[in-house]
Order: sequence, then C-alpha cells, then structure tokens
Amino acid sequence: MTGRPTLAVVGATGAVGAVMLQILSQHKDIWGEIRLVASPRSAGRKLAVRGEQVEVVALSEEAFDGVDIAMFDVPDEVSAQWAPIAAAKGVVVVDDSGTFRMDPGVPLVVPEVNPHAVRVRPRGIVAGPHCTTLSMIVALGALHAEFGLRELVVSSYQAVSGAGRAGVETLRAQLSLVAGTELGTSPGDLRRAVGDRTGPFPEPVALNVVPWAGEPREDGWSSEELALRDETRKILGLPRLPVAVTCVRVPVVTAHALTVHARFEDEITVDRAREILATAPGVVLYDNPLAGEFPTPADVVGTDPTWVGRVRRALDDPTALELFVCGDNLRKGAALNTAQIAELVAAEFS
Ligand SMILES: NC(=O)c1ccc[n+]([C@@H]2O[C@H](COP(=O)([O-])OP(=O)(O)OC[C@H]3O[C@@H](n4cnc5c(N)ncnc54)[C@H](OP(=O)(O)O)[C@@H]3O)[C@@H](O)[C@H]2O)c1
Repeated sequence: MTGRPTLAVVGATGAVGAVMLQILSQHKDIWGEIRLVASPRSAGRKLAVRGEQVEVVALSEEAFDGVDIAMFDVPDEVSAQWAPIAAAKGVVVVDDSGTFRMDPGVPLVVPEVNPHAVRVRPRGIVAGPHCTTLSMIVALGALHAEFGLRELVVSSYQAVSGAGRAGVETLRAQLSLVAGTELGTSPGDLRRAVGDRTGPFPEPVALNVVPWAGEPREDGWSSEELALRDETRKILGLPRLPVAVTCVRVPVVTAHALTVHARFEDEITVDRAREILATAPGVVLYDNPLAGEFPTPADVVGTDPTWVGRVRRALDDPTALELFVCGDNLRKGAALNTAQIAELVAAEFS
C-alpha cells in the first residue's frame, strides 16, 4: 500500500490518549485519517487533534475498517480482547498495555534502543514497554551499547499518573482532604484523614510514599517490579541479566524517577559515561549538583527526553555507575514511545 496510512487511537480519552493527541498534533503529520476510539461511554464526545474536533467512536470491529495502524492505550483486558481482532483484520497494532510485552511473538520496541525489532511481528502486534522501564531504558541502552551491562539495581519513584486518570484523581482528592490539617505526628493520622479514598493505591499517597506498584506476584514481588526486570532483559537481549528492583509510588502527578546502580563488563570512567549520555539520542545529561542541577519530576514533566543526573562511579566497584534518571511517564513512558513505533511502521507504507 502507498499513501498516508489511516491511524486509529484506541483509548483516546484516557491519560495516555490525551497526551497522544497532543503528540499527533505536534509531530510531522504523516497520517491520513486519524480515528479516535474509546469505550461506548465516550462515543460522540469530540476531542481536538491536529487542530480539528474529531468525534470519538465506540470500540467495535467496524471501528477498524480501513485502518492501517492502531495504537492501543487501553487497559490490559481490553487490549487482550481487541488487539488480536484488529490484527486479524490486517491492522498493525502498537500496544501500550502489559498484555503482549513478554509474548515471544510480539517485539518489545524502544526506537532509540532496538528499532530493528519492529520489523518482525508474527502476530501483527508490536508492544511498548511499561512506563517505569521506559523511563530509564534509553539512557541504559546507550551505556550498554558501549560498556556491556552485567547487573542492575533499581529503585523507582513513580508518579500517580502511572495508574491512569484514577491515580491523578485520587492524589488530587487526597490533597484536598489533607490541606490545612496537621498530619505527620502519629501513626494512622493520614489514613484517618483520607478514609477510603485510596483509589488504585493500597495506602494514602498524598504526603506519603508507598512501596508498592502493580498487582501481587509470587514471593512478595509486584507485577511492576517483574515487568521492569523482564522487559529490560528482552529489550537489551540479555535474558539472564540480574536485576534487583523495588517500585515505590510517590505523590508526584507525572514523571517517574529512578535510582540506578548499573554494573558493566569492565572498569568504566565517569567522563566516558558522561560523553555517551550527553550525545545519546533521546537523553539529556543534566548533572551539576554543585550548581543545584539535577533532573526532578517537576522540571522534566511535559518533556520528551530521558533526563540523567547524579552520574557517579560506584564507591566500591570501579565497574559500576550510579545514576538518577527521570522521564515523563505519559510522554516517553507511554504515548511518545507508541507514536515513535507507529511512525517506524508507517515508514513501511510509503
Ligand atoms: N499511565 C501511564 O503512565 C502508562 C504508561 C505506559 C503504559 N500505560 C498503559 O496504557 C494503557 C492506558 O492507560 P491510561 O493511564 O491512559 O488509562 P486511563 O486513563 O484509565 O484510560 C483508559 C482508556 O481506555 C478506554 N477504555 C477503557 N475500557 C474500555 C473498553 N471496554 N473499550 C474501549 N475503551 C476502553 C477508556 O475509555 P473511556 O474514557 O471511554 O472509559 C480510556 O480511553 C494501559 O494499558 C496502561 O497500562 C500507561
């Protein structure tokens, strides 16, 4: 087929979908029709994309008629049901959910790291990684390409929008419940102030940190911790990479941060690591602590790159680096990566 491909955005009304519509309006316009799809609850709503108001249609088989590429920004179970239906109609699906990421028949793609993987898609589906993986993998991929990664130890500081609109609404509601109160003096005072308004989180997240993200898995792990390990291994092609990870939710609206201890094959120098990070596509090195310069979620929200600061050689291991990494979980962590994959696929249509 030649000409401009038709694109469907499935989940256009969600947290990721809203950012996707901005990105589609800002990036070079390579698309023919852009069709907006969501649940029947949203059918008939109008949303702006490329400066036009477009009516949302309900998800159905017919919604994929004439579509070449469909981005899926919907819950896992919706992707599980509908991505194969779209693929069976010849649509190339770019899925942002967790459903297909570890499927051996589905490539897991980060265009700055493994763009070649997009071409082999036996199920007609390409997946993008989880937002926490994506918030560090571009910087890590650049370092791995030169130094050869051997081990990772990661802690995340994850924003509430990683749990979708419900996460953001929960933090906002909790902040208004605690405003003006004197909390932080006795156990349980925050719990009492927030009551049952914990939304998708197991504990109050306003004025707190919660060492849990995702669903329970075996042996005390959370699904998001396992996702970070498994996805990093798949993207970098390192199936036995040792990864230790703890995922933590913090009261930030958008932009995930991670501390990373990365051990490489041989001794590394911080100067060379800085050069790599300063020139890697999609990475910004912002690292001058004496001048108060390091990335924080408040600085990087709404931006595209992976920001890296606090680059140090590990105190007790000359083969390891310590980094602080920060990125917008709704942009590179979700919508931007999906848009970049769709653009790679669209290039096949020209
Ligand atoms: N938030 C992040 O940082 C992030 C990062 C990476 C990946 N993701 C993944 O991206 C996906 C979307 O996340 P989100 O944060 O944008 O969630 P969200 O804000 O809850 O939005 C969910 C979207 O899915 C639609 N939807 C729900 N049920 C549907 C159904 N039965 N049929 C059709 N559409 C349906 C919703 O439409 P209505 O408005 O009509 O209900 C809405 O557009 C999830 O798989 C998530 O894991 C999220």
